[in-house]
Amino acid sequence: MPPTGAKGARLQEIFEAWVAELPTGSPIPSERDLAEHFGVARMTVRLQLDRLAQRGLLYRHRGRGTFVAERRVAHTEHLTSFTEDMRARGLEPGSRLLGIEEIRAGAALAARLEISASSRVVRIRRVRTADAEPMAAEQTHVPARRFPGLLDEDLDHGSLYDLFEHRYAVRVAAADQRVTVTDLSDEEASLLETEPGRPAFRIERTTRDADGTVIEFASSVYRGDRYEVLMHAKRDV
Ligand code: GLP
Repeated sequence: MPPTGAKGARLQEIFEAWVAELPTGSPIPSERDLAEHFGVARMTVRLQLDRLAQRGLLYRHRGRGTFVAERRVAHTEHLTSFTEDMRARGLEPGSRLLGIEEIRAGAALAARLEISASSRVVRIRRVRTADAEPMAAEQTHVPARRFPGLLDEDLDHGSLYDLFEHRYAVRVAAADQRVTVTDLSDEEASLLETEPGRPAFRIERTTRDADGTVIEFASSVYRGDRYEVLMHAKRDV
């Protein structure tokens, strides 16, 4: 139980600090018990719990009660690979290779990769995991000419950016990203082991090497209940 002596808005701060200390999945006492503990109306407690739920710190399970939600994984403006992103947050990154194949670019991909439509492209589809649970479904395209032999590499384990750097001496230097919100399709939900229609982030990334040449176009769908997008912005002085 959190400490007593709080009223109204202060309750929110106290609840937040308290919830942050509790392990994921811990049950929250009933509204009635909390109201009694704090000497406030049940409605006041409900309002504060609703706010925490809206912010993703708690989740409600009909008929079972309120629980501490999983801490979401943050995404910073620093250009990281999935592997680095997860490790920075104390999670063990992993992959499950769904497919790797060489295809003709076609007009749309050619525009993204800044190559001709007849060029060959390697398409890699992976489910990315964090602590062995699906986090994102990812589809990456790279120009085949730049990465000969990529089809034979083991992408079921390890990092694509590590391969870029160590096998091909291609350094990831910059990327443009677009983040949109989407509902999971049946297929995405099954890959991510959750329900269709759940909210998710779609992150598209166009990645360039140090010379400014496009080396990758990727589209990833991250589970909205596990991922968080954070941005750092500076204003010119
Ligand atoms: C992120 C990016 C992808 C990139 C991947 C590489 O998920 N959105 O564009 O392909 O990282 O990650 P890794 O090196 O772990 O394979």
